[in-house]
Amino acid sequence: MDRHPAPGTPASDPPSSLISFVEAAPSPFHAVAEAAARLQAEGFEQVLEHLPWPTAPGRHFLVRDGSIVAWSTEGRSPSAGFRLIGAHTDSPNLRIRPRPDRRSVGFAQLAVEVYGAPLLNSWLDRDLGLSGRVAVTHDRSAPTIELVRVDEPLLRIPQLAIHLDRGVSAEGLVLNPQTHLSPVWGLDPSLSISGFLAERLDVPSSSIVSWELMLHDLCPPAVLGADHSLLAAPRIDNLVSCEAAVGALIDAVGRGADADTTVPVICLFDHEEVGSESASGAAGSILVSILERISIAAGLDRDDHLAALAGSLCVSADGAHATHPNYAERHEPGHQILLGAGPVLKHNESRRYATDPLGVAVVVEAARETDVALQQFSSRGDMPCGSTIGPVTAARLGVRTVDLGVAQLSMHSARELCSATDPLLLRRLLGQILTSSPLPGR
Ligand code: CO
Repeated sequence: MDRHPAPGTPASDPPSSLISFVEAAPSPFHAVAEAAARLQAEGFEQVLEHLPWPTAPGRHFLVRDGSIVAWSTEGRSPSAGFRLIGAHTDSPNLRIRPRPDRRSVGFAQLAVEVYGAPLLNSWLDRDLGLSGRVAVTHDRSAPTIELVRVDEPLLRIPQLAIHLDRGVSAEGLVLNPQTHLSPVWGLDPSLSISGFLAERLDVPSSSIVSWELMLHDLCPPAVLGADHSLLAAPRIDNLVSCEAAVGALIDAVGRGADADTTVPVICLFDHEEVGSESASGAAGSILVSILERISIAAGLDRDDHLAALAGSLCVSADGAHATHPNYAERHEPGHQILLGAGPVLKHNESRRYATDPLGVAVVVEAARETDVALQQFSSRGDMPCGSTIGPVTAARLGVRTVDLGVAQLSMHSARELCSATDPLLLRRLLGQILTSSPLPGR
């Protein structure tokens, strides 16, 4: 543990699979579509939850709104327990209100609502696109949901000039989320969001009834640094973990299995950044019911299923705070976290992270087997840490859970920074954990 690679080790290859995942996923709905496409290419078949569950073992996934759960019972039985990896598809951002069209001093603007806890300043003076989903009504048939993605410089939130805000550098930037964040998107007074969407979707504007649309930075991910050791990208929190989880599941199902092999499951949830309390969030019923239906389909009764959960393990994969070189004093001095030094086990005695000692032991063993270095995070006593879906799934399922993730800077910025190599180590480690042996009893 706390083994570090030689300083200055550059990435041998750019993390191209991660970069393409991030670029494909400006919204949770696009993240789910990209995960589904990657799984389908490996023989995973979609299960529809309103239909009877497939009883034959196989590779499957289920989509509910901005969440996706995927698993394989091929050659495996849930009676050996589950190996779960949880992550989240959503990132903090700015979202279009239901009646957003505004005019002010000659500008056409769109009113936005803040989603989660973004670093608001990071959204200023960027050329922004638009993505998400739109409900469209039709004459005689049922409404449909259309994925929308506009990768054009449509919107911008202009910062106030320094001449009109003389104290900003010394006193800090204060942004009011109601009054200071409305993007401009042109000068034409007839611009309207429903007119724009209708044109893009080629439907009458009266059939655009509702949407879940968000802004995204158009600047593509970049391998950064003179030694190419860093990755700058939007949504590192938490598409790094989503991409690693999908890759880990694909790696895990490619290995041999028997009836004593645990069932690997990945669950990529929406709504983590706003507390997970939703029909598709980690605090909802989605995972509970999917696991139970997997067990029932395999012939387990409820008692067998609860016994299987007791022998299961969940890894909650989410971003960790690297120690910031300009603010090292904000971090616990005995738990400095370096970029490029491997995934981070996150600990918190107030259970903001769910990590416990036996779970750590399983992860440490998997790290040893895959030659992956680990780091251990604990926050300063005077600096409360964030949280993850880890404690939520642990409480909901009663499953032993470990919080783990890739270190990064600028968490919740529109553009974050991590190592170019840690994400690949995370995938390797998670793939091993998905195939690790059943847990001993408690
Ligand atoms: Co996160």
